[in-house]
Amino acid sequence: MNDQTSVVSALAALDLDRAAALHGEAFAPFGERGWTRREIAELLASPGVAGLLLRTGDDDAGFALYRTVANEAELLTIAVRPQLRRRGAGSRLLGAVIEHAREAGATALFLEVAVDNQAARRLYDAAGFQTVGRRTAYYRRSDGAAADALVMRLTLN
Ligand SMILES: CC(C)(COP(=O)(O)OP(=O)(O)OC[C@H]1O[C@@H](n2cnc3c(N)ncnc32)[C@H](O)[C@@H]1OP(=O)(O)O)[C@@H](O)C(=O)NCCC(=O)NCCS
Repeated sequence: MNDQTSVVSALAALDLDRAAALHGEAFAPFGERGWTRREIAELLASPGVAGLLLRTGDDDAGFALYRTVANEAELLTIAVRPQLRRRGAGSRLLGAVIEHAREAGATALFLEVAVDNQAARRLYDAAGFQTVGRRTAYYRRSDGAAADALVMRLTLN
């Protein structure tokens, strides 16, 4: 995603509807319910949580939420609009989260990803994350199926 046409900014209260729309659109294919405006607002209001919104021109391209507590950060979610994928938006957002988490004093960034989410796993592998654990049946899809989560970690030093 071209740096000259896209901008990453802090996710603000005015962006909550946009973030909820991006989240719903991104996770529906996994049979997962998108987070509501209220749920995102509550998360953003909890200690250490912040969000980033990526825009290309006037359009929303994606967003990410992360939490930093002491020297550990956690990527809570990341989502890119389906029609804008594979153009570097996910990498750009993830890079911005890594930068902000490092600036906030974190020395490691953790995340959970469904084992069958190949796109996200490739993105995280490319960024240097390593698998450090597995949570059995962590995700419950709308059809009742369960999926394991991998726990991944990136050293930020
Ligand atoms: C995961 C996601 C954020 C990636 O966003 P994106 O803008 O497409 O990512 P990028 O274009 O920066 O891709 C970076 C690298 O990730 C890998 N990747 C991304 N999508 C991929 C796909 N569909 N298949 C294989 N590799 C993929 C590639 O290595 C890619 O580099 P390349 O295009 O040079 O080969 C996006 O697919 C998404 O929103 N998915 C739905 C929500 C989700 O699953 N979030 C993660 C939950 S843990």
